[in-house]
Amino acid sequence: MVKIRWLGHAAFVIKIKGKTIVVDPWISGNPACPIKPNELEKVDHVVVTHDHGDHLGDSIEIAKRDKAKFIAIYELALKAKDEGVENTFGANIGGWFEVDEIKYLLTPALHSSTIGEPVGVMISDGEKTIYHAGDTGIFKEMELLGKMYRIDVALLPIGGVYTMGPYEAAIATFMLMPKVVIPMHYNTFPAIKQDPSLFKKYVNKIAPKVEVKILKPGEEVEL
Ligand code: NI
Ligand code: MN
Repeated sequence: MVKIRWLGHAAFVIKIKGKTIVVDPWISGNPACPIKPNELEKVDHVVVTHDHGDHLGDSIEIAKRDKAKFIAIYELALKAKDEGVENTFGANIGGWFEVDEIKYLLTPALHSSTIGEPVGVMISDGEKTIYHAGDTGIFKEMELLGKMYRIDVALLPIGGVYTMGPYEAAIATFMLMPKVVIPMHYNTFPAIKQDPSLFKKYVNKIAPKVEVKILKPGEEVEL
């Protein structure tokens, strides 16, 4: 069983194969996050898609607190090590790698960053696969990702300005063909105000087989 809880913006807690993983844990200062950093349960892995503050967030502190493995693009993992994180796993865009029996794969993301390349991440227990796109614009290789991997849940940004908006994310959904899509990276602050029902409307038209699950921050889904 896999559980996915949205903490607002791009932050998710994923429970898979007995492990607790947090992705892009921006908790302090995240206006959409319903919890405080000390209310976050103990995590095993901290995954960060890129070094922008709204993704790096509290990741270093959490990794130190829980002696969790910090998983990111190679250069960002080095930075975490420099800042005193004991367990880091630096990888790069490419094939699957395993950390404590959880399978990970870093994907391209069409975005910017200061340290290392920005990425998306696939997380799998061998049965279920979750794709967190990170911050990204739409790119044609999403079609290839959809053909190569059977994605159960795609977490896609829809806020616009810094990432895809609702229309681009609906086309991305069509290319990725997940069973379920969950919109993220919107309504955190005024610049990325969006109506997620517009995204749902587009997906229902463009990729009607895909189920759209609109979560409230703090809400959890189970697969
Ligand atoms: Ni960013
Ligand atoms: Mn962002």
